[in-house]
Amino acid sequence: MKTLLTEEQLGEGIRRMAGEIKKHYQGRPLTIVGVMIGSIVLLADLIRLLDLPLRVELVQARSYRAGGTRPGPLAINVDLLSESIQGRDVLLIDDIFDTGRTLWELIPQIDELGPTSVRSAVLLWKEGRSEVTMKPDFAAFTIPNEFVVGYGLDYRDQYRNLPYLAALEPHEIEDDA
Ligand code: IMP
Ligand code: MG
Repeated sequence: MKTLLTEEQLGEGIRRMAGEIKKHYQGRPLTIVGVMIGSIVLLADLIRLLDLPLRVELVQARSYRAGGTRPGPLAINVDLLSESIQGRDVLLIDDIFDTGRTLWELIPQIDELGPTSVRSAVLLWKEGRSEVTMKPDFAAFTIPNEFVVGYGLDYRDQYRNLPYLAALEPHEIEDDA
């Protein structure tokens, strides 16, 4: 495994993105919606950098096949939203924009609930992988096409607790091809 972004670099990128988010919302109330599970570490750090009147909610999305590094069928569950988001500005938080299918399928489901606006912020944007026409509104970093773990991101449910971001070496990946 090789370190791609240190704890310090992650902190800098997230502070930069928090600044852009604050500038965009100009003190307006916001509902932050974390996409579980990968976003939890970013969510915890990001909300403490946003001095806006905000609510925090969660939804769940799962696309990666139990075993490997390749996307499988996507399952989304928005039933975890506890407060109405009608008439609210919503900012979806995810760990990584890879194929983009998660946000592409999640946004219309959120839209149906009547928010004023829906935007997205991700820690990582993996270059050259998108299969959709949208882009995340805010991204802390763009990274090359490697499978990464740490800071919330997992491989087979491991490594979410690493405080830095690492790329797995090919021999560390037993894909379920
Ligand atoms: P997308 O729908 O293809 O954009 O992928 C979104 C989800 O796939 C992310 O929220 C992650 O959970 C997972 N994912 C994509 N790339 C990686 C990676 O390099 N490491 C760990 N998880 C990843
Ligand atoms: Mg995820």
